[in-house]
Amino acid sequence: MGKKSEIILGFDIGGTGLKVAMIDTDRGKLTTAKQRILTPQPSTPRAVAKAIKEMLKEYDGYKGPIGCGFPSIMRKGVAKSAANIDKGWIDTNVEELFEKETGHKFYVANDADVAGLAEMKFGAGKNEDGTVIVLTIGTGIGSGTFLDGELFPNTEFGHLLYDGNIYEHHVSNAARKRLDLSWDEWGERFNKYLSHLETLFSPDLFILGGGASKKMDLYRHKFKIQTKVVAAKFQNDSGVMGAAMYAKSRMKKK
Ligand code: BGC
Repeated sequence: MGKKSEIILGFDIGGTGLKVAMIDTDRGKLTTAKQRILTPQPSTPRAVAKAIKEMLKEYDGYKGPIGCGFPSIMRKGVAKSAANIDKGWIDTNVEELFEKETGHKFYVANDADVAGLAEMKFGAGKNEDGTVIVLTIGTGIGSGTFLDGELFPNTEFGHLLYDGNIYEHHVSNAARKRLDLSWDEWGERFNKYLSHLETLFSPDLFILGGGASKKMDLYRHKFKIQTKVVAAKFQNDSGVMGAAMYAKSRMKKK
């Protein structure tokens, strides 16, 4: 018999949706179906904390720690930016707030960083050395950056500037929908974005995650860069999976 796997609850908090599932952190698998609800609007700390408590009712028997990806620069559990969520999050200690609301120990890090952890260990980045940039394409653009498998946190590449404008406003999946871009048009824009990142960081691999990564066959012919580009293996599930893996890594450090 193999060793018993560590099962941890993972939350992925986004500008649009809140997702949760139980994760087998040793095998890189969801052990329950993912639950998703819309992020409350306005997405204030209070409203989101309450929504999380409500979602936890499904996991009544679970008393363990919870990992959580959050769409903000995260320093020691404290949110330091709020691009696609209510500005009231800035300087909120997210770990303390959720712990107080739910009674569970929470470990919170940037959403794209934790999605990257899942892809690097079990997904499209497995065994990939060198510089790997994981981009999550959703309401915003998140980035998880790895050198020889080690995370360099909070890179926020979605906030690089293009002609004085923030890239994520032009190339996120939300921007594609808002501007009613065809996949070809969007692919061309995204190619420019990747080319900019390529010039700055000379990565060895780009991994694209989030909603739009499922459709890569519709726009990948627009990519003219040197760097290899692959779709995330877990697409929208890497957020919840990586969140649970992040909790496990923090627990080990104690
Ligand atoms: C935020 C990032 C986040 C990304 C994806 C951006 O607007 O600044 O922290 O990772 O959206 O949610």
